[in-house]
Amino acid sequence: MIRFIDIYKSYDNGTKALKGISMRIDDGEFVFLVGPSGSGKSTIIKLITAEAAPTEGRLMVNGYNLNTIRPRQVPYMRRTMGVIFQDFRLIEKKSIYENLVFAMRAVGASPKEIRTRIAYVLELVGLSTKAERRPDELSGGEQQRVAIARALVNNPSVIIADEPTGNLDPQRSMEIMMLLEKINELGTTVLVVTHEKELVDRFAKRVVAIENGRIISDGVGGYYDNETF
Ligand SMILES: Nc1ncnc2c1ncn2[C@@H]1O[C@H](COP(=O)(O)OP(=O)(O)OP(=O)(O)O)[C@@H](O)[C@H]1O
Ligand SMILES: [Mg+2]
Repeated sequence: MIRFIDIYKSYDNGTKALKGISMRIDDGEFVFLVGPSGSGKSTIIKLITAEAAPTEGRLMVNGYNLNTIRPRQVPYMRRTMGVIFQDFRLIEKKSIYENLVFAMRAVGASPKEIRTRIAYVLELVGLSTKAERRPDELSGGEQQRVAIARALVNNPSVIIADEPTGNLDPQRSMEIMMLLEKINELGTTVLVVTHEKELVDRFAKRVVAIENGRIISDGVGGYYDNETF
């Protein structure tokens, strides 16, 4: 579960990025986070991943209290989540398979766990036949699916994606969103930041809309029903 209680975030230069955010995301939910550029979406993600700390308010993530978490606990907290970045952040000189092995070795998985789990996630994202390729031998959509496989490989309870379809054409974007929906149906909580109105409209999911550091609506289809958009 992710819980924001009256969270404020100011950056060092004085920018007030979040101004009283309260929300709760339960295990198993699929949530879109939407809003204009600069509204605070990535800041919310950075607080959840503990890349940044709140200035005020209480924040709980998967049983960890991020107000009091010790630095040495942060890696354990991060293992409960899989993060998908817009620029993929794959290791270019390693094959897809080796990229996934690397992610699993980092958490001490056994060779047997590594073999079984990688076969499973590659099948799930539809890349079983491309395991030996390097990232630069794949299309943008395929690379994004590798990034999703890597986020999933350590079996996190939450998947967090900041603009996962930002560089993709509409057809590929749709495929990525359907893949995230499938992952959600298999039991993983999914939080997706997106600008893509068509995609949000196509999937009848919970939509948390942010504007100027505040939540302006929260509900199924709530964002684009709002007259101001
Ligand atoms: N490291 C930082 N230092 C100072 N200000 C920042 C920093 N990161 C973000 N901001 C500011 O905080 C506000 C919220 O930024 P944030 O990145 O959360 O927006 P966003 O909703 O993700 O926007 P986009 O859709 O463009 O990605 C903006 O005014 C931004 O300029
Ligand atoms: Mg952003």
